Amino acid sequence: MPRIRTAILISGTGSNMEALVRAAKADDYPAAISLVVSNRPGAIGLTTAADLGIPTLAIDHTAFGTREAFERVLHAALRVHDIELVVLAGFMRVLTPGFVSEWQGRMINIHPSLLPKHKGLHTHRRALEAGDTEHGATVHWVTAELDSGDMIAQDSFPIRPDDTENTLRERIRPVEHSLYPDALRIAAKALGRSLPTANPDS
Ligand code: GRF
Repeated sequence: MPRIRTAILISGTGSNMEALVRAAKADDYPAAISLVVSNRPGAIGLTTAADLGIPTLAIDHTAFGTREAFERVLHAALRVHDIELVVLAGFMRVLTPGFVSEWQGRMINIHPSLLPKHKGLHTHRRALEAGDTEHGATVHWVTAELDSGDMIAQDSFPIRPDDTENTLRERIRPVEHSLYPDALRIAAKALGRSLPTANPDS
């Protein structure tokens, strides 16, 4: 089966992007990372991606008057690169319902909480405030409702009595870096099965 052409959208460090790019180097991986896009031209992740040999693009959202205008350019860039699946990895822009519906069933996100707990921002602080005994990350399909699409994969770890917002932010990293590549594998396989093939016998 051909690999699913995948774009990763970032805004900053891009450590999840890096984990995905490294995983996708495996011969049997069902997704090919074809493009990394950042809405911030200075994002460190753009340099990391370029060093890993991935085509990169910066689309500075501050250059556009509206979200829709920014998204029109983003959408066009994804089309030009024949992107089939969009992966949000620390992409800090809210996407409009119009863009989300264009990519529904073809866009996934990682969220740093055990969804459906703690949708939205400040998940580490909120897990501590809620007295949770475990924390973790969730990869899900993106739908118009924030952090609410069907779950693809989730992983958890116990919260220690001395954990702080900062320690949870650090401790979740390796969890995300192993979870996201597994989840992208699942998502790309599912998408590959649903795409029409030119020759169903091949
Ligand atoms: C991750 O914790 C992810 O869950 C959240 O933003 C962070 C991105 O980190 N959405 P990085 O840019 O991948 O290092």
